[in-house]
Amino acid sequence: MIALGCDHGGYELMQEVIKHLEERGLEYKNFGCYSTESVDYPVYGQAAAKAVASGECDKGIIICGTGIGISISANKIKGIRLCHDCFSAQATREHNDANMLAMGARVIGPGLALKIVDIFLDTPFSNDERHVRRIGMIE
Ligand code: RB5
Repeated sequence: MIALGCDHGGYELMQEVIKHLEERGLEYKNFGCYSTESVDYPVYGQAAAKAVASGECDKGIIICGTGIGISISANKIKGIRLCHDCFSAQATREHNDANMLAMGARVIGPGLALKIVDIFLDTPFSNDERHVRRIGMIE
């Protein structure tokens, strides 16, 4: 189950992500927002992050205009490990067992965003002892 959260700046790109998840047959839980009306990104970033941190959802995808505000918000929740681009999505899945992806809808287009989504969702954690140890040190 994938937790989704966005603000008004990320709403339209999130619709593309939702369509993509549905085409892939992947389940998601949408924590909003639900339109382009102006809202406060911490509400939605933290709702999705709490669902991931609690185990209700396995991973999360969050989007705002820059990808930064909503990322800072989610990062306040204990247990959240973020990534944001193609390279970091792959490397942080392998090394950091990243559990959330934050993207900026005013930074990247839908083609690149969906590629990052696929890398984030499809790259397994390495489970290497040193990476497990380091994640344990973070926690
Ligand atoms: C909203 O205008 C914008 O500030 C927000 O989407 C995000 O970019 C904040 O970091």
